Amino acid sequence: MEQQPKKRIYSAIQPSGMLTLGNYLGALRNWVAMQDEYECIYTVADLHAITVRQEPAKLRKQILETYALLMAVGIDPEKSLLFIQSHVAAHSQLAWILSCYTQFGELSRMTQFKDKSAKHADNINAGLFSYPALMAADILLYQADMVPVGADQKQHLEITRDVANRMNNIYPNVFTVPEPYIPKIGARVMSLQEPTQKMSKSDPNVNAWVAILDKPDDIMRKFKRAVTDSEACVRYAEGKDGINNLMDIFSAVTGKTYAEIEKEFDGKGYGDFKMAVGEAVVDTLKPVQDRFNELMSNRDVLETTWRNSAQQAEAIARRTLGKVMKKIGFIY
Ligand code: TYM
Repeated sequence: MEQQPKKRIYSAIQPSGMLTLGNYLGALRNWVAMQDEYECIYTVADLHAITVRQEPAKLRKQILETYALLMAVGIDPEKSLLFIQSHVAAHSQLAWILSCYTQFGELSRMTQFKDKSAKHADNINAGLFSYPALMAADILLYQADMVPVGADQKQHLEITRDVANRMNNIYPNVFTVPEPYIPKIGARVMSLQEPTQKMSKSDPNVNAWVAILDKPDDIMRKFKRAVTDSEACVRYAEGKDGINNLMDIFSAVTGKTYAEIEKEFDGKGYGDFKMAVGEAVVDTLKPVQDRFNELMSNRDVLETTWRNSAQQAEAIARRTLGKVMKKIGFIY
């Protein structure tokens, strides 16, 4: 039987400080799992990061650490491309072109734009507004079939699909229309303090989120303090947002179903359950932290790796950019 070419996966993450357990369960561990079956291309989205003001030295450090952390969670540059967005100029070039095919009205409806402009009212810049055009450029440059993301990126994926379909109607077959890949468990890890809100590294309450690099003691403390309810029964049910979130996290890291978890903690208090979730998360993150420390002491390896990957990515990206520019009517 003839072998089908592998489907292509693209995804990216912003280097905005500490990555969280939400990033890990919603996106990164799926990135890792997809490497054998698919042709994967992953990026540190540094261009997206400057939609909010960044301090130069801190940004540089965060880009480096995010890159190392992606390798530490298990992205293998022998299998996948792993590079820094700004190293491939075609991302910015295609973003401009796509912004001319993206409507003001559709960008105005983006909840992330509304949230971020409320949070950074003194800096509502044009980049923050046209952010989804850059994200569409990232994905469409590589003609990706699937994009593994957490649930909060769904709206950005929809606009990417709309822009791709719009361009394909004008210039037939210019882009592959990508599908989102959103996991069943872990797609929306919630705050440990306000479990109706998404877990986010920008939350000023450090007890609300777990960083992938948090020390075991801190992780345990955060889970012990996690907000629950007064029923004292470990079961998944409407209105039990705190326990539902802890069950989701426990299920994601242990592979146990809700029914299995309910049975295991039948008759036990929330204290035991919180300890078990904390310990399971510590066990999951410990090897990642060890690998991260090793990688950070070897910056040369990181640099060589991102340069090689960027070169290969550039070749793919330039092909798409050339095709788009010719179709539009530029002298390319
Ligand atoms: P970012 O950097 O905010 O998040 C990276 C990935 O982590 C997921 N995520 C979560 N999943 C579950 N629960 C949470 N609490 C949680 N918090 C974050 C996000 O859904 C995401 O998958 N715009 C993107 C980066 C980007 C991108 C792209 C993504 C730039 N270009 C192209 C895909 C394709 C962002 O800011 O993600």
